[in-house]
Amino acid sequence: MCGIVGAVAERNITPILIEGLKRLEYRGYDSAGVAVFTNAGKLERLRRPGKVSELDQALAGEPLVGRLGIAHTRWATHGAPCERNAHPHFSGDVAVVHNGIIENHEALREQLKSLGYVFTSDTDTEVIAHLLNHKLKDHNDLTAALKATVKELHGAYGLAVICASQPDRVVAARSGSPLVIGLGLGENFLASDQLALRQVTDRFMYLEEGDIADIRRDSVAIWDVNGNSVEREAVQYRDGAEAADKGAFRHFMLKEIHEQPAVVQRTLEGRLGDKQVLVNAFGPQAAELFAKVRNVQIVACGTSYHAGMVARYWLEELAGIPCQVEVASEFRYRKVVVQPDSLFVTISQSGETADTLAALRNAKELGFLASLAICNVSISSLVRESDLTLLTQAGREIGVASTKAFTTQLVGLLLLTLSLGQVRGTLAPGVEATLVEELRRLPTRLGEALAMDSTVEKVAELFADKNHTLFLGRGAQYPVAMEGSLKLKEISYIHAEAYPAGELKHGPLALVDDDMPVVTVAPNNELLEKLKSNLQEVRARGGQLIVFADEKAGMVNGEGTHVINMPHIHDTLSPILYTIPLQLLSYYVAVLKGTDVDQPRNLAKSVTVE
Ligand code: G6P
Repeated sequence: MCGIVGAVAERNITPILIEGLKRLEYRGYDSAGVAVFTNAGKLERLRRPGKVSELDQALAGEPLVGRLGIAHTRWATHGAPCERNAHPHFSGDVAVVHNGIIENHEALREQLKSLGYVFTSDTDTEVIAHLLNHKLKDHNDLTAALKATVKELHGAYGLAVICASQPDRVVAARSGSPLVIGLGLGENFLASDQLALRQVTDRFMYLEEGDIADIRRDSVAIWDVNGNSVEREAVQYRDGAEAADKGAFRHFMLKEIHEQPAVVQRTLEGRLGDKQVLVNAFGPQAAELFAKVRNVQIVACGTSYHAGMVARYWLEELAGIPCQVEVASEFRYRKVVVQPDSLFVTISQSGETADTLAALRNAKELGFLASLAICNVSISSLVRESDLTLLTQAGREIGVASTKAFTTQLVGLLLLTLSLGQVRGTLAPGVEATLVEELRRLPTRLGEALAMDSTVEKVAELFADKNHTLFLGRGAQYPVAMEGSLKLKEISYIHAEAYPAGELKHGPLALVDDDMPVVTVAPNNELLEKLKSNLQEVRARGGQLIVFADEKAGMVNGEGTHVINMPHIHDTLSPILYTIPLQLLSYYVAVLKGTDVDQPRNLAKSVTVE
């Protein structure tokens, strides 16, 4: 969690650090800070609660100018988001920024206090600064002191350190939290994500687990987990499509919602044959492996978990493969019984979510047949550590509430379902050809759903003064309802719950009154009549219904019932289409409520702590 930037150069590095932090705000944005070894020869810092822009403004009044520095944007784990808890943390000559969690911080804190170190924050990070300062008494060299320090740390960390008495370098350590070195000409950089450094370089070196690095202006030295000096490959990064600009849209989230036809199209490109899915989209060895798969275990977090829940309906119904889906934070700590010939599938936008990564690492010990990552970031840890990969082509997603990443994940999961069914011969005749055709039409259908933008904007007015809502769905629309309710919670701060519509009468019906709008997605399928009965139960209690219904579902507006017609779509693809109006609904409710749509309170885009 949090974002790290570091730099050692011949020029003033403060603007580079600040620009880097702005690009990393997706990692957390509750406070930010910078430490610079100034041209006056002093280690100085500035920290501010709130977003990076607050720090930037403060720097205008109190500039820090120097050629060596580190910076951090924080998402609080230990200690409230306030100035004294913001990084960098100091001890003597040492300044430290840290991503991750130090699990033995309490014991270390007590030890260091007894040695006379005085703590000024509530963070786990401050113990690292004092411990490193203490190690400098025995090790003159900063890198040697860092190596000795990390031996005593339990937990996860990405660390960047500078020291006023050795101002020629940034030193770094990676264990459980990614770090990348940016290579310049006569200057070098460090960050928790290469995005932070795209402004200054396109050449990167990725640190591996357990690596320690000593980064100077004209050299980089790296040691692996065993202390051996190692070379890490320098990679040229070409992206082109990384435009971080909202264009004509008011928020990134709205832009990303509207990008869905294009990114779904991109995710399908090169993966569909005439009447079949091209199984080698999952890698050259996929066909051979898929033939052996008898079970699927999906693990993910947040929105990606909801994508996995939709996939379970597809895998069991279309490909006849038993499938289990679990949130990664539960899976990783549970004693799991692995079915024979199980494929372990992770789903992640970022590929760096700590719980998902840990679950993958555990799974490797558990006897799964192979691992597959469905992921949006090609250079992520998840992709690097999985046997097979399917990259979604959503492009960079900036809004914290995930939208286009979700729909492209669903497309990837449907490709997986059809590939497994094809290779194992378990698809009903004609199904694959039909769905391939429907997938080709999907971008157009999504465009039609997006054309409902202004209709949904009006419906949003029904929610602006409400405190609670219920989302209902049946079958594969139940996870769509869950995703809809998550979106509304995340960005409008309205309490929202999702239920399978059939469960309504077992409890939540007690909550229904005219102050609690009930949102439903109703494609025209065999569950429609059952759903209609559930909706009657709501109306009978005075509940306001907002129903996104297939144009052929025969649902009509009436008192307390607002029906918004959806374009007709093949039932299998309906979870992808029906997600769109729910995304738009949350967006417009949040706009009406005046919340920070792209960076909602307390959340972060990429959660790299447990
Ligand atoms: C955070 C984000 C969510 C995301 C989840 C999983 O909570 O705010 O939008 O769904 O992490 O992230 P991943 O990158 O693994 O999909």
